[in-house]
Amino acid sequence: MRTKIFKYNQIDEAVRFLKQGEVVAVPTETVYGLAADAKNEGAIQKIFEVKDRPRHHPLILHIASYEQLDDWAEDLSMDARRLAAHFWPGPLTMVLAKKPHVSDMITGGLSTIAIRVPQHPLTREVIHRLGHGIVAPSANAHKKTSPTQVAHVLKTLDGKIPAILDGGMSSIGIESTIIDMSQDMPVMLRYGVVTQDMIEHVLQREISCPSHHHERISGNMEQHYQPERPLFLLSTEEIQALSSQGATSAIMHYSHLSKKDGFIYYPMSAHKEEYAKHLYSALHEIDGLGVDKIWVEEPPKGREWRDIRDRLLRASAK
Ligand code: TXA
Ligand code: MG
Repeated sequence: MRTKIFKYNQIDEAVRFLKQGEVVAVPTETVYGLAADAKNEGAIQKIFEVKDRPRHHPLILHIASYEQLDDWAEDLSMDARRLAAHFWPGPLTMVLAKKPHVSDMITGGLSTIAIRVPQHPLTREVIHRLGHGIVAPSANAHKKTSPTQVAHVLKTLDGKIPAILDGGMSSIGIESTIIDMSQDMPVMLRYGVVTQDMIEHVLQREISCPSHHHERISGNMEQHYQPERPLFLLSTEEIQALSSQGATSAIMHYSHLSKKDGFIYYPMSAHKEEYAKHLYSALHEIDGLGVDKIWVEEPPKGREWRDIRDRLLRASAK
């Protein structure tokens, strides 16, 4: 199969593929998603096959606007409506009680469904023209680094999917925050750029942020987001003490370091948003350098960096 790349003026062609039951990679502001028509089980099946994703891992439904929410979810609390009104379109996914018609293939047999309204204009237009919703996990093979541009999607899915809609580089760069709003107490399931503080500010109450969840939340698998080269997280002091062991390795850092031979230095921003935006592109790029290892300077400790720490811990898990 040849993977076609559609530009912004070819949205109709991407929609045609989706209507025919094909999967298409689409841009979102977080990462690229591998989309299928949420009402076509045959198409959803293809997502699992192409990604080699375990069948019980539920998918996120992407809708075009808040108005479509009641087509898929029920028993919405005032708090859930508040979050939707405040953060959509944008990088917040809410887990809600599902409507009876929702396919078990989307929810992995759970009684809840994860939903968000993405911000990227091309993908919102795709959903709008399709008429209902798309399900879309990140457009990469299972456990691999998520894609934030077309070249990253091609790395693991070239020849396996019929098309990619090119929407440029994702502006946020890491996956959406996921919050479970199906119970009385909101529960944080995955950290992202919509932070605990931002959610608590809107709801005017505390939310729960447990440190462990069920494996089904695939973002909570111990190993995830993994580059091809082995990645190690080290403190700033440990990074500074590294000495070359023959083969060239890469150092991804945000502190100022004095340079030594035998290393390729990959500087990152000390600003969290900028760091997040470039995290996956950096990992993809470093993978392409042919180094034997990737040393990553541990990100700062504070709450603000929780989403980055979470991704890097899973990327370094052996
Ligand atoms: O930013 C994003 O969310 C990207 C873009 C493409 O929108 N999508 C994404 O999808 O990250 P994926 O499949 O890589 O991660 C979806 C996460 C999984 O960890 C899954 O377990 C969780 O959402 N999830 C889906 N439905 C759920 C449910 N009913 N209850 C709890 N977790 C759920
Ligand atoms: Mg993923």
